[in-house]
Amino acid sequence: MSEDFLPIRGYDHVEFYVGNAKQAAYFYDKVFGFTPVAKSGLETGCRDRTSYVMQQGHVRFVLTSALGPDHEVARHCALHGDGVRLMALEVGDAESAMREAKARGATVVQPAEALEDEHGVLKTGVIKYAGDTDIKFVERKHYRGLFAPGFEPIECNPPEPIGLAAIDHIVTNVRLGEMNYWTRWFEQVLGFTQLTHFTEEDISTEYSALMSKVMENGTGKCKFPINEPAEGKKKSQIEEYLDFYRGPGVQHIAMSAADICKTVRALRRRDIDFLRVPDTYYEELADRVGPIDEDFDELKELGILVDRDEDGYLLQIFTQPVQDRPTLFYEVIERHGSRGFGLGNFKALFVSLEREQALRGNL
Ligand code: FE2
Repeated sequence: MSEDFLPIRGYDHVEFYVGNAKQAAYFYDKVFGFTPVAKSGLETGCRDRTSYVMQQGHVRFVLTSALGPDHEVARHCALHGDGVRLMALEVGDAESAMREAKARGATVVQPAEALEDEHGVLKTGVIKYAGDTDIKFVERKHYRGLFAPGFEPIECNPPEPIGLAAIDHIVTNVRLGEMNYWTRWFEQVLGFTQLTHFTEEDISTEYSALMSKVMENGTGKCKFPINEPAEGKKKSQIEEYLDFYRGPGVQHIAMSAADICKTVRALRRRDIDFLRVPDTYYEELADRVGPIDEDFDELKELGILVDRDEDGYLLQIFTQPVQDRPTLFYEVIERHGSRGFGLGNFKALFVSLEREQALRGNL
């Protein structure tokens, strides 16, 4: 195997541009169990935007909104609604990462730069990815602060944690015919390899279909599935996303949990809506997946899906979109050996997704 020219340590954070970061922070705190740990804004000398850093386990979200109308953040929100602007990856050497990516064809959005405060030096660089979503490299080995220079800690009572541990994968939707471009881009520019490939036959219902390829970095820590719509009788859920997001972007972020039943129970108590799973799904589940540690009745009660492959099994569940537009949603996943993405669930799930889509008048 060739040397990894762009070693990635893992996900560093995901930055969202939102209409109202203060209220979004409240939502991620009170509903999803994230602790607000740091903030930048007027109080810290930042005059044009406010950002909240939210942390749970190894998952770090940054929520940013503009303080004025003619601002990159405000324009992004007007066009896309609330959504993911940056996927940040931690690297050992940001300058090298930028140099390697650029030499292999990446478009540079922000050249490598060093930010300094009393906690040390943080280095970052940004390259262009699909649509208005970019990829940021973060080098923190010489930085001991909470998040980044310009941010100050937030004093608060940490919320009751709900057990979200780490980002498992981040999925992008791209336009028809663009999936192969972006999978090649991940290979050539970032040195990722293709993990799996789902075809139309794997993932289709009577009405809609999608194609998906999963790209993974050398250490297997970062996984980026990429979806494109496939022709169906009616509009696919990927097209619905592209219409409302006004282009490609992040469709869902999957977060791992050590005890998915506990996490989902907590989220349901806090009124998170999950995708409804047809009751018929559970009728033959035990035959399909064989013995598992969990209780099938509890999984059915909570609407958790199960899938098995040659390496083991996984449990997963999908939320409804978390903003007005049918765009970004979340997945909670608990893996028991399986490195897959729930292929066996796709069809069962699509029936459910389409029912929601029909309710929105978009099918
Ligand atoms: Fe997923």
